[in-house]
Amino acid sequence: MGIHLPEDFPKHIIEHYRRPRNYGEIEGANVIVKDSNRLCGDYVEIYLKFEGKRISDISFKGQGCMMSQASASMLTELIKGKEVDEVLKITKNDITKMLGLELDPVRMKCAMLPLVAIRKGIETYLSKR
Ligand code: FES
Repeated sequence: MGIHLPEDFPKHIIEHYRRPRNYGEIEGANVIVKDSNRLCGDYVEIYLKFEGKRISDISFKGQGCMMSQASASMLTELIKGKEVDEVLKITKNDITKMLGLELDPVRMKCAMLPLVAIRKGIETYLSKR
């Protein structure tokens, strides 16, 4: 991969980007939500399956920079099986901790893209109940 990264760049970000977890579509998903970063056109598509107020399954598809796609992969791992209320409490700060990296505002927007989509998906689901 022709990307030059600093020596101390967190390896798990590269790893999630190269081998994304929970990638693909979920058959019978309750909600599918797509969101994109207007600045670059990169996008994520989130598939959510609920059991009551619990996210029983989650997956994603997408195209974009390392930060947006690695963040999506990590978030799906973190969120699977969690209660909706718990997921809605995840903040920017938690994303920074999850990535193990301080990001400038532009990169932060990339990293937040999947969480913003997940929040929208949850809201859609809750509004339909
Ligand atoms: Fe597009 Fe990161 S550069 S989401």
